[in-house]
Amino acid sequence: AKRSLLVGFGGFLPERVVTNEELATRLATSDDWIRTRTGITRRHIAGPDDSATSMGAEAARRALDYAGLSADDIDVVLVATSTPDQAFPATAVRIQAALGMTRGFGFDIAAACSGFVFALATADSFIRSGQVRKALVIGSEVYSRIVDWEDRGTCVLFGDGAGAVVLSASESESDARGILSTHLHSDGTTGDLLYVDGAVGQPDKTGHLKMNGRDVFRHAVAKLSSSVDEALEAEGLTYADVDWLVPHQANIRIIEGVAKKLALPADRVVVTVDRHANTSAASIPLALDEAVRDGRIQKGELVLMEALGGGLTWGSVLARL
Ligand code: ACO
Repeated sequence: AKRSLLVGFGGFLPERVVTNEELATRLATSDDWIRTRTGITRRHIAGPDDSATSMGAEAARRALDYAGLSADDIDVVLVATSTPDQAFPATAVRIQAALGMTRGFGFDIAAACSGFVFALATADSFIRSGQVRKALVIGSEVYSRIVDWEDRGTCVLFGDGAGAVVLSASESESDARGILSTHLHSDGTTGDLLYVDGAVGQPDKTGHLKMNGRDVFRHAVAKLSSSVDEALEAEGLTYADVDWLVPHQANIRIIEGVAKKLALPADRVVVTVDRHANTSAASIPLALDEAVRDGRIQKGELVLMEALGGGLTWGSVLARL
């Protein structure tokens, strides 16, 4: 089967930056509490004109530009989001329209913070099966619209933004580059650890994100560790083969836990959580975009992406750039 090569990267962050200090003027919190528990110092927050569609479309334009492709070259648009503008049409279809695409197809994937990993795995399957040649995979989130701004235990953790990658089928089946493996998991028995209270048409519900932070933390370290082992074992690789860890950016302590397991030095781990906070499904493509554009991640290097989120959902993507 053909391999999925990662050929384009793009990101978009809303203009407004909210620091921990600013939050501390409105909530009983402090820069010190947030920084030591999470590594977060600031986050970008969507303005009235920013949405999952507008931010995702801009990240997509930048990724297409990087790849030297146009929207007409794309066969499928997959959008990972838990914060769509509307229940339907899907954000992916709105983004198709924003890009001027009338061919191909698109749909959204809901797997919370693991959404980008799930979307990348789905796009890879389409490419391996020969059904599509080029895919746009986007994570776009506006958690500022679902957090309870009165709940200091959750609202300080999240930020808004979008990231995108373009995948292209390899010319030869023996290409050493591209997505090597994907592993996805979910376990609904842990669904109440992290969820949004309500959906469309439920005015008696708050519509707010609710989280049991301690238990999510515990599951994250254990599940992401086994995820990493599973990904490498499947390819007959060892920790020493990994050049870069590009993790979901929820909390610096979770990221450092996984990096320590891999025995990866800090300068081989892409971290954005300090400046972006947790942007859910957008965090991995935003981190990838940053590290590819500033020259850290080079062609041919082995990149391990991993995420855990509401569901619980978790998984990994192993790719040679
Ligand atoms: N500022 C000041 N104090 C706070 C704040 C705040 N922002 N938030 C909570 N506190 C207080 C609590 O009220 C509590 O006070 P109490 O002891 O008087 O009751 C105290 O701090 C400790 O609260 P805990 O929740 O036990 O703090 P903990 O050390 O567990 O840290 C945290 C909380 C940072 C949320 C941690 O549990 C965590 O990182 N969990 C993982 C959460 C996560 O990453 N979720 C996202 C992953 S999945 C996804 O990305 C959607």
